[in-house]
Amino acid sequence: MKGSFTLVDVLLVLALLNEATLTVKGRPHCKQTNSGVFRPHSVSISEFGAVGDGQTLNTKAFQNAIFYLNSFADKGGAQLFVPAGRWLTGSFVLISHLTLRLDKDATILGSTNSDDWPLTDPLPSYGRGRELPGGRHRSLLYGNNLTDVVITGDNGTIDGQGTVWWNWFRNETLDYTRPHLVELMNSNGVFISNLTFLNSPFWNIHPVYCSQVRVQNVTIIAPLDSPNTDGIDPDSSNDVCIEDCYISTGDDLIAIKSGWDEYGISFARPSTNIIIHRLVGETRSSSGIAIGSEMSGGVSEVHAEDLQFFNSNAGLLASMESIRMSFMTLMLFP
Ligand SMILES: *[C@@H]1O[C@H](CO)[C@@H](O)[C@H](O)[C@H]1NC(C)=O
Ligand SMILES: *[C@@H]1O[C@H](CO)[C@@H](O)[C@H](O)[C@H]1NC(C)=O
Ligand SMILES: *[C@@H]1O[C@H](CO)[C@@H](O)[C@H](O)[C@H]1NC(C)=O
Ligand SMILES: *[C@@H]1O[C@H](CO)[C@@H](O)[C@H](O)[C@H]1NC(C)=O
Ligand SMILES: *[C@@H]1O[C@H](CO)[C@@H](O)[C@H](O)[C@H]1NC(C)=O
Repeated sequence: MKGSFTLVDVLLVLALLNEATLTVKGRPHCKQTNSGVFRPHSVSISEFGAVGDGQTLNTKAFQNAIFYLNSFADKGGAQLFVPAGRWLTGSFVLISHLTLRLDKDATILGSTNSDDWPLTDPLPSYGRGRELPGGRHRSLLYGNNLTDVVITGDNGTIDGQGTVWWNWFRNETLDYTRPHLVELMNSNGVFISNLTFLNSPFWNIHPVYCSQVRVQNVTIIAPLDSPNTDGIDPDSSNDVCIEDCYISTGDDLIAIKSGWDEYGISFARPSTNIIIHRLVGETRSSSGIAIGSEMSGGVSEVHAEDLQFFNSNAGLLASMESIRMSFMTLMLFP
């Protein structure tokens, strides 16, 4: 059988009560990413005709602003500022050397029209959409082949308005897999901080085939009964650091993945060196940290410490995607 799994340096103390508290000690070493990077150029989304009234669709304004800022990519990069207001938009595409910065009273609102979330190809390590065959709706904030991307704010909000998607999912009227709030593919040097993510249609933050990813000081909230609203899903990615986060969702708070079935096996890109510390969260029926349920490319070197999960059915769970996964060995030291 192909694939391997090791979980090292883990010391686990688990209290199986209604309010379970889990402490895991590891040997974390988060490398500094491009956290404080200064961008010599900055524009505001309102300079591109955007209207923050919660009604006007601003997808074109976001896309035009980012197109304009692309000319500064080789001049130290640029910042797109989102001021106070409620900025409705469909999916838009990020570029390298970009800082997207939200004001503390800014909310980026996901459109509730599925046409504003265009389709994108299935991931090669999945071979199809996660929920349905074929393509999948592109995430609200999307990037591919990027380097040096910062998404931050003074606790500003990115709200996917996912209720409509959860209803479509529940009544089985979707033709394609639901979109994430943020997906970055094949990217290096990603820093997401000081933000609140609300009501994602599907997973919240999905770095896939990425390296040097840091998610710091974010709050992620979706109703405890919302379907598959995972918090942060490092997928076939390495050198990922998640720290000082609060996550309360309808599914796993963090799920470490590496592709699906034969596609994940043949793509063969593991998730490795995943560091998680100071994570607090709540999930009704899923895991605080799940290894899987798609991990055909392997997972190794997961370090976690200082975790507090409430109402989880398991603090740290390796969820099996199928019998094929039963070769996994979990090393936990109670
Ligand atoms: C990303 O890079 C790959 C490999 O170089 C290329 O085939 C693909 O077209 C690029 N995609 C985008 C969106 O830049
Ligand atoms: C986290 O974000 C909040 C609100 O923006 C801020 O007050 C706090 O200082 C931040 N903490 C860290 C560790 O960055
Ligand atoms: C950020 O805002 C969220 C939602 O309003 C709030 O729950 C959270 O406590 C705030 N985070 C910080 C660090 O201030
Ligand atoms: C499914 O849910 C959507 C969103 O709530 C609703 O508009 C639609 O009428 C529902 N369709 C069916 C067949 O129940
Ligand atoms: C996050 O917020 C804290 C506290 O306000 C600040 O020190 C830090 O620089 C912020 N991070 C970014 C990337 O802006």
